[in-house]
Amino acid sequence: MEVRTVGIVGAGQMGNGIAHVFALAGYDVLLNDISEDGLKQALVTIGRNLDRQVSRGKVTAELRAEAMARIRTTMKLSEIGPLDLIIEAATERETVKQAIFDDLAPHLKPHTILTSNTSSISITRLASRTDRPEKFMGLHFMNPVPVMQLVELIRGIATDQATWDTMHAVVARLGKTAASAEDFPAFIVNRILIPMINEAVYTLYEGVGNVKSIDQALKLGANHPMGPLELADFIGLDTCLAIMNVLYDGLADSKYRPCPLLTKYVEAGWLGRKTQRGFYDYRGEVPVPTR
Ligand SMILES: NC(=O)c1ccc[n+]([C@@H]2O[C@H](COP(=O)([O-])OP(=O)(O)OC[C@H]3O[C@@H](n4cnc5c(N)ncnc54)[C@H](O)[C@@H]3O)[C@@H](O)[C@H]2O)c1
Repeated sequence: MEVRTVGIVGAGQMGNGIAHVFALAGYDVLLNDISEDGLKQALVTIGRNLDRQVSRGKVTAELRAEAMARIRTTMKLSEIGPLDLIIEAATERETVKQAIFDDLAPHLKPHTILTSNTSSISITRLASRTDRPEKFMGLHFMNPVPVMQLVELIRGIATDQATWDTMHAVVARLGKTAASAEDFPAFIVNRILIPMINEAVYTLYEGVGNVKSIDQALKLGANHPMGPLELADFIGLDTCLAIMNVLYDGLADSKYRPCPLLTKYVEAGWLGRKTQRGFYDYRGEVPVPTR
């Protein structure tokens, strides 16, 4: 099946990045969110990120204009339903995602493929509530989407080969590389990455190091391009906590228990870059460690 039209539900940091790469690859994109401000902000962010690519010579001004013209926004989920491919990229909460797929159900075309950009939630469980588990799979982009090369393709227990093949071709057209993962909690990347971040938060919580020393240690000592706490702020601390909870519940192993300090930051609403404060405070000229 050839995909031409793409609906993206959730216009946050992932949704706007996904819209950006699909529009650049020539797909018609309809972006949805429950927040009108969120949709406006998403278009501003996409424009700014495309400008950066133009100034670096990665995209021509003509291509930028074409891509922007291919992105439309809507607050009506019913307009997303009839498109060829739907990518759910809303908040990492199972009840939110389930409600979106329930609300989409009456508007879908028979051929519509459903995907979720979830970082950790069971694809098989999300799919089981829809009328098309064979046309449902995980399409997990990395942050920031326009920069990161990998897309994890996650096969639910019922995902059929035609759907997988279609999505593999879509990822190739985006110029990205697919990695295939089975549907177990947090798949491959986050199964490994988020417990490492959680361990960095424990290291902070137990006073082994402060924010600066922990990040510096991993950058200079393990050759990581970003420190784990800096990376946590970038991902969003609410998302990191949600993923730890999925691992803890889904694998029933105490080694995945979320660090209480991570929970405390989330309870404070200090979610990282998106709220201007997390393990660093981003409100000034340079990020300042908060511990
Ligand atoms: N942040 C990351 O590094 C990262 C990486 C890969 C995947 N993901 C996954 O992508 C998804 C989105 O994460 P994000 O970082 O963009 O979060 P975010 O908080 O930046 O954005 C979430 C967006 O979803 C919208 N939303 C909430 N409920 C909605 C609904 N019912 N209908 C439409 N929109 C709704 C919110 O208004 C918000 O704009 C999550 O499933 C997350 O796990 C995140």
